[in-house]
Amino acid sequence: MENILFVASECTPFVKTGGLADVIGSLPQALQTNEKVDVRVILPLYDEIGEEWQNQMTYYTSFNVEFGWRNHEVSIYTLTRQSIEYYFISNEYYFTRKGIYGYYDDGERFVFFSHAVIEALQHLDFVPDILHAHDWQAGIAVALAKIKQPIAHMKTVFTIHNIRYQGVMPLDTFANFFQLPDEHIAGMEWGGMLNCLKSGLFHADKITTVSPGYAEEIKHPHYSEGLESLLIERDDDLVGVLNGIDIRDYNPLTDPAIPVHYRSSRVKKRENKVLLQEKVGLPIDADKPLYTIITRLVEQKGLHLVQHIIHSFLEEDVQLIILGTGDPEFEHFFAEAARIHPNKLVTMLTFDEDLARQLYAAADFFIMPSQFEPCGLAQLIALQYKTVPIVRETGGLKDTVQAFNEVTGEGNGFSFTNYNAHDLLTVLDYSLTIYRQREHWLKLSQNVNKSRFSWDDSAHEYATLYRELAESNLTTEHV
Ligand code: GLC
Repeated sequence: MENILFVASECTPFVKTGGLADVIGSLPQALQTNEKVDVRVILPLYDEIGEEWQNQMTYYTSFNVEFGWRNHEVSIYTLTRQSIEYYFISNEYYFTRKGIYGYYDDGERFVFFSHAVIEALQHLDFVPDILHAHDWQAGIAVALAKIKQPIAHMKTVFTIHNIRYQGVMPLDTFANFFQLPDEHIAGMEWGGMLNCLKSGLFHADKITTVSPGYAEEIKHPHYSEGLESLLIERDDDLVGVLNGIDIRDYNPLTDPAIPVHYRSSRVKKRENKVLLQEKVGLPIDADKPLYTIITRLVEQKGLHLVQHIIHSFLEEDVQLIILGTGDPEFEHFFAEAARIHPNKLVTMLTFDEDLARQLYAAADFFIMPSQFEPCGLAQLIALQYKTVPIVRETGGLKDTVQAFNEVTGEGNGFSFTNYNAHDLLTVLDYSLTIYRQREHWLKLSQNVNKSRFSWDDSAHEYATLYRELAESNLTTEHV
């Protein structure tokens, strides 16, 4: 049984800005229960973490971390939840602030976090066989694990949840942040800058990303954000493991947030639809096809495509509800569009988990036309609530949604290939056609009911990866 330490910058239910938090909040449980792996998680102790959690934490130890010209005191607090042990790294200077990202010194904050994680290894009564770091915020922890070797036999896995964010800083910070000889610059530098993501990719024994589709895409310049040559070089150690979701949590049969519980009954789903129409002030009509978009309102999610076609689409006899917050450009646009189409479009500029679940339960279709999508969890939640996903064929969307084929009767959703607004409109119109053809709609619904994306298979893949890595005595001298 291996000991695994997850290093990450967010984790549900403590602190969340995106899908990373959901993965860190649910994969350890699956690994522990199904695979008998001892997984613990280390995170920064942000002020943002609610009092209800902070009150449950217990003080564990304190030590100093030398960093730049300062010597920082760090304390570790622990908390056990659903049999997973969490370690929180507390440092007032870097983490006692409002929110979790968005500061001019974010790069420095997470380089510091990584230093503190490596130092913490000397103070925990837990000896990881594998340090599993996630995204750029934990990249430097992988580099330091390899360079300093705090635990001789410890191997490293680095997971890319999104290659767009890399944690890039001027190269002269190297001398401030690390008391290391210059020979180590090469492993941390990319394009003349210090790059945290690159540092993780360069030093990790194994690299994973969150879907097989994305693992392929990031070797091409269109998706690689400049890192394709490095990823091609490390191809033998790169694998895509599809994310899952916690299907006990996202269960329409028991979800306390939704008014009418169901397993796969379309009739009960329609009852949810009617209640939601009433709640948000749309005309009440159980037959009316209801589409929804639930997302952070950012470019990655394909919202420019939606902007282009929304008025044409709303000429159809449909309803659309948009839920989320994000870039002001999109917030304004979709709020204004809702004013133009009061009986068809509702835009709710908020993030409300219960409302999101009510929407998943009520809607017939879920639209997710991402520009790129490492995995995507929302389409999996939609399927879990028997809502038909309409996606662009990229990354994890392509791996989880198969276009409905009238001839063979296969497929659990709708999809289009090119990042083109008219292709989105065509596929939206087509979804409406299928919705109105009883036989096809029934077949499609049955396929949706059979789609399952729990963590079981993926947890097994990670466990196998850990085992092979722990057993290999190879030193990884790549490049
Ligand atoms: C990032 C990606 C998303 C993925 C999530 C969890 O948020 O953008 O596609 O599902 O990480 O891995």
